[in-house]
Amino acid sequence: MAIGFRQEGRIFTLDTKHTSYRMKVDEYGFLLHLYYGGRVYGNMDYLLTCYDRGFSGNPWDVGNDRTYSLDVLPQEYPVMGVGDFRNSALIVRNADGSDCCDLRYIGHEIKKGKYGLPGLPAVYDDSGEAQTLEITLGDKVSGMRVTLLYGVLEEADIITRSVILENRGNKGVTVEKAASACLDFVTGSFDMLSFYGRHTMERNLQREALRHGTYAIGSRRGTSSHQYNPAVILADRSATEDAGNCYGMLFVYSGNFLCEAERDQYDQTRLLMGLQSDVFHYTLEQGEKLTVPETILCYSDRGLGLLSARFHACIGEHLCRGKFRDAPRPVLLNSWEAAYFTFDGQTILKLAKSTAALGIDMIVMDDGWFGKREDDNSGLGDWQVNEKKLGCTLRELIDKVNSEGVKFGIWIEPEMVSEDSELYRKHPDWALRIPGREPVRGRNQLVLDFTRKDVRDYIFEQICGILDQGKIEYVKWDMNRSIVDVFSGETAQGKVTYQYVLGVYEFLERLLQRYPDILLEGCSGGGGRFDAGMLYYTPQIWCSDNTDALDRLRIQYGTSFFYPASTVCSHVSAVPNHQTGRSVSLHTRGVVAMAGAFGYELDPEKLTEEEKASVREQIRKYKGWEALIRRGSYYRLSDPFAAAYTAWMFVSKDRSRALLSVVMLEMHGNMTVSYVKLKGLDDTSVYRDTESGRRYYGADLMKAGLPMPVEQKEYPAYQIELIRET
Ligand code: GLA
Repeated sequence: MAIGFRQEGRIFTLDTKHTSYRMKVDEYGFLLHLYYGGRVYGNMDYLLTCYDRGFSGNPWDVGNDRTYSLDVLPQEYPVMGVGDFRNSALIVRNADGSDCCDLRYIGHEIKKGKYGLPGLPAVYDDSGEAQTLEITLGDKVSGMRVTLLYGVLEEADIITRSVILENRGNKGVTVEKAASACLDFVTGSFDMLSFYGRHTMERNLQREALRHGTYAIGSRRGTSSHQYNPAVILADRSATEDAGNCYGMLFVYSGNFLCEAERDQYDQTRLLMGLQSDVFHYTLEQGEKLTVPETILCYSDRGLGLLSARFHACIGEHLCRGKFRDAPRPVLLNSWEAAYFTFDGQTILKLAKSTAALGIDMIVMDDGWFGKREDDNSGLGDWQVNEKKLGCTLRELIDKVNSEGVKFGIWIEPEMVSEDSELYRKHPDWALRIPGREPVRGRNQLVLDFTRKDVRDYIFEQICGILDQGKIEYVKWDMNRSIVDVFSGETAQGKVTYQYVLGVYEFLERLLQRYPDILLEGCSGGGGRFDAGMLYYTPQIWCSDNTDALDRLRIQYGTSFFYPASTVCSHVSAVPNHQTGRSVSLHTRGVVAMAGAFGYELDPEKLTEEEKASVREQIRKYKGWEALIRRGSYYRLSDPFAAAYTAWMFVSKDRSRALLSVVMLEMHGNMTVSYVKLKGLDDTSVYRDTESGRRYYGADLMKAGLPMPVEQKEYPAYQIELIRET
């Protein structure tokens, strides 16, 4: 049984194959957290200690017991206003203006199957073996009902949490802050790992020791953002890739979020993940509910590598959906860096012809094919094909591309409107704008009010009108600005940021239902919305607008801590690179791009014959390894921020096949040799390097490493395929 309830002591036990979670309803009805970590067997309530702590208040009903204080006790869902002065998971403003919500246990239910969330993405379990625990808490005075949801995926070592808030009182209350997960640790000294960045430089790993006080990351940009990813790890200070305790929290949501890690006065640690409290005041009228998006929790006692492996499996098998979850992804050529806005139908057709000759499966027509769109200052919202620019209808273009044996994909940005567009001239009120103020522009565009169904319906119809014009097999869904003017003509202010994201999800769901055979790729100026919420709808996401191979090594390294390679889109682009001006060899660019869903972002006609031959060879190799990359176990072998090389590996689940990739980062005179230590192989099996024919025992490669050649050139890269022989 994954979930149990021990009546004596009112203990909840949640157990996965290798982890355990414990909580307790105490004598006053408070829900206390007891333990999360490696598998245990007892109740774990012996961990609770109570001492008289000055300036930490005592709830009324404990009487004279000054040793009982919520300011010190570990809690499951801490609330503002009842004597816990640490960061709260929930802040509720009552009708009388007070900020208080005294949550006590009402009941619980253990259910078969993993819960789903209305209108929100959530982990699912097809096997039917998962279980759900629902614990209901309530505040007598205001009538607030809080249902804590726990999903337990035993085999996957995953526990999920979500929360449903409901106003059962007769006066409106306003939710000012709501997290879906809280982890209280009574002991431990942790490092916090988070992923910060900016446009074209997303998800840099940052690791810092938690000190007293609060360390917080989040987004107020309307999307999860380039700046901080909604994914964090608490790790033992000594934890490494292969050893030590680590706890991961991954928010399954694509909008504003807040993650706070706090070390308190007694050296205890609290980690919270949930909705951003700024630009959020969610009033619940009588009977109204709010679902706080899900957080996925995972624990590893063997370092960061195992934690990543468990998140990869969870995302790949329990979050991504649809036909393309398990299907090979096409190798594609995207027109963006090849032509930007300067193209016509002939340009696309030429690209298609040259891609066919190279073995590329699909051409994607990026931005610039609709309305008046010669640059990024106009046209968004006018989803009509610019036939004059293309010189033909979309159907004709697609047919011609298809007749070259090449599939066709297209770019859209449905959430946006340009002021210079027919749509905006007709419906200026459809954009998010604060009355009486001029809007803040971003990329010279405004954001459509996707909280409104009528707006979504209109855009949906327009987009369908495009997708129905021919055999479109892939759609790149973009979103190219942060949201500033949070004000809707129809939706209550304070709810807009949340309802906007739900609107995006509803649109995506409708699109998936209507076009189950289309592969959806997410994008927001590259990786500005690379999150678990989007992956429920789009099984792959354009990782970054930065296609420079060296920068990509760091970006993809950071991305790999939570997200599997199958979700990471990575393309070979031209040199000098358009974002950095750096020139890296075609081979190295190929090796880096093969760490995910592979493609090209250049004009093949500008390649020499020799380069074209190399591209053909890259594609041939990639296709041979595609399943290994998409489904294999992924191992980080070095830290690109510290080592002289970046190395990673894919190993098939049965360990019979592996692909090692290495990019050398440093070049000096009389260079030292780098020995790359492999992972994930069978110790006593012999593996053959398919190119050199050399044979090695798995243990030898893992314990002593493999020497990399010393070459006098910049950033050489190596790919070594190993096949198990015995
Ligand atoms: C964003 C995307 C790019 C490209 C452009 C088009 O920046 O990340 O890949 O599609 O928009 O305008």
